[in-house]
Amino acid sequence: MATLSAVLATTHHPFFYKATELTPREDQLPQAGEWKAKVAAYQETLTAAEPELLVMVGSDHFHQFFYDNYPTFLIGKQPRYDATFYNEIREFSLPTYELEGHEELSGYMFQGLLDRGFDLSISHELKLDHSIICPIITTRPQADLPIVPIYTNIFAPPLPSPKRFYDLGRAIREIIDEYPSDKRVAAVGSGHLSLELGGPRMFGEHGPDPAWDVQAIQWLANGDIDAILANVTWESMSKSGNATPGFLDLILMLGIAGPEPASYVDDLDLFHTREMYVTWYPDGDPRDRAATAEAEIPEAVRA
Ligand SMILES: [Fe+2]
Repeated sequence: MATLSAVLATTHHPFFYKATELTPREDQLPQAGEWKAKVAAYQETLTAAEPELLVMVGSDHFHQFFYDNYPTFLIGKQPRYDATFYNEIREFSLPTYELEGHEELSGYMFQGLLDRGFDLSISHELKLDHSIICPIITTRPQADLPIVPIYTNIFAPPLPSPKRFYDLGRAIREIIDEYPSDKRVAAVGSGHLSLELGGPRMFGEHGPDPAWDVQAIQWLANGDIDAILANVTWESMSKSGNATPGFLDLILMLGIAGPEPASYVDDLDLFHTREMYVTWYPDGDPRDRAATAEAEIPEAVRA
């Protein structure tokens, strides 16, 4: 059976690459150095898990799906995926990518979800946007692993409930655990904490609801799905910013991890949003194994 070696839940910030790689040092944000260092540390949490393929969760930002036909949940099943839309190149200077797909796991996942009561849409012509490419840039910049992309609707209400997102995550977890393969799989998903896009609270000194952000990170860090389901609704998220329902994708990632405390939690208050970096290790923390292996090396040899 496949091994789920890591689950990563993170915010995505389309300006990260431009702000840290393309902007001359003298013009960078004061937080740019710290931002880059935190992302590098986060990237290491995925590298340490030695993944061989990635299940990636994101949401189309009205690039190819619109109100006339927006799939609630969708899985891609293609040999390759093009990524990055023109407006993302123009506004965020994001690179284009061609990522390899893992059609076998896509098909297995699609059938497994149907069997569990999740009737996903399926696409053979999916193009990836920054909800997947930003986490590639921050967690696997070499973009060398085959992927299974899962898209959710966090943008075009009415949306499924937080519980439905969590339950979908639980189903994805079961399917990965049952997947007849010796591969090490990692799940990487991106979403938002409190966020305002185009509204009156955009580009403030902090995110639109800093207190909510701290609470939301705590819920995820503790794996506290009960508190999330007791407190998070479409209405409550919308009060904290018009794009805050992006938190639903982070709830989905908690579903994949299960109601467990995270192994790695970090965040960064950028001037208009809070970034968050969370990792669970369902198969045990590989950093502990590395430390144990180090400890087992005789001191004479180590020297
Ligand atoms: Fe986004």
